[in-house]
Amino acid sequence: MGRKFNFGAGPATMPLAVLQEVKDELFDWKGLGLSVMEISHRSDEFQEMAKEAESDFRDLLSIPDSYGVLFMHGGATLHNAMVPLNLASAEGTADYVHSGHWAARSIKEAKRYTNVNIAASSEEEEFTFFPQQDNWDFSDNSKYVHITPNETIGGLCLKELKPSTIPVVADYSSGILSEPININNFSLIYGGAQKNIGPAGLGFTIIKKDLLDQAQDITPTMLNYSTMLEGESMYNTPPTFAWYFAGKVFKWLKSVGGVKAMGEINNKKAKKLYSFIDESNFYSNNIQESCRSIMNIPFLLGDDGLNKKFLEESEQAGLLALKGHRSVGGMRASIYNAMPEEGVDALIEFMANFSNKEA
Ligand SMILES: Cc1ncc(COP(=O)(O)O)c(C=O)c1O
Repeated sequence: MGRKFNFGAGPATMPLAVLQEVKDELFDWKGLGLSVMEISHRSDEFQEMAKEAESDFRDLLSIPDSYGVLFMHGGATLHNAMVPLNLASAEGTADYVHSGHWAARSIKEAKRYTNVNIAASSEEEEFTFFPQQDNWDFSDNSKYVHITPNETIGGLCLKELKPSTIPVVADYSSGILSEPININNFSLIYGGAQKNIGPAGLGFTIIKKDLLDQAQDITPTMLNYSTMLEGESMYNTPPTFAWYFAGKVFKWLKSVGGVKAMGEINNKKAKKLYSFIDESNFYSNNIQESCRSIMNIPFLLGDDGLNKKFLEESEQAGLLALKGHRSVGGMRASIYNAMPEEGVDALIEFMANFSNKEA
């Protein structure tokens, strides 16, 4: 059976070249006569691979030595607890920018471990834009401001982060490696791997080292950034297969020109789809133009009653997982790094035929 185009938000489509390589190595990795899943994470081979993956990740994002990098279990959601446990206190305060579904999740969890101040929110405007940085209103003595620079469900993003007066913590699950960012403007970046990096279950963390060693006493050992960094993400057995896979995705990304080249491709793909939607009388996207995500593009059909038909026919055409999240409705096309431009072209062609036929 041939490959189809998967527009799912995550676990998402992965680069075909990487899947092929993994398949080829599955029974015999590096001539060991075993798969990578069957060897010790303490073996020389695994250690070498792990270091190379970190080094490639650092190269791709120009991460300075003053930041630590972690690859650990738990995806992004675990960090919603880790961040306040490691950086804030029960008596202190942390600021959160409320930009949609995933920001809300982070806020809810943080409230268990610290006092949360909402520094800015676009909730009243139904998250049709990302609250502008100039309007973020910090509380006194705030430990950090938490943002979700790409809201995977709402399809909105913060285009550029300017230097901040307090440490910026970002859940970059769905935007990481999609275009260049200036790491120096962030103090901590975390996310799940299952969009632009690799299999679900793995999380990545980039943390400025001067934020370490201030965890609350109640912090579980496995959730302490300092412990994890000292143990080079191997305090316990790490998700070895996912780490290995991520290493291959980093090499693939480098081979296609790195994050800058990928950013140009991603912007081109997104522009094509947004232009088609904007020019059509049948489809719509209501996110302010300056805040539109290049990774997740939600759109509504002119007639809600046609949603089911759209999904059935798109699936038959090999265009999968286009159903929007229930909180937003309609459709959503997630067009991560591994989605080729032909996938976007095929989607646009399908959408044009569908609206010509049904409108
Ligand atoms: C922005 C964002 N944050 C957090 C999550 C939750 O990630 P995980 O399932 O890895 O915990 C997601 C999942 O889609 C997401 O898109």
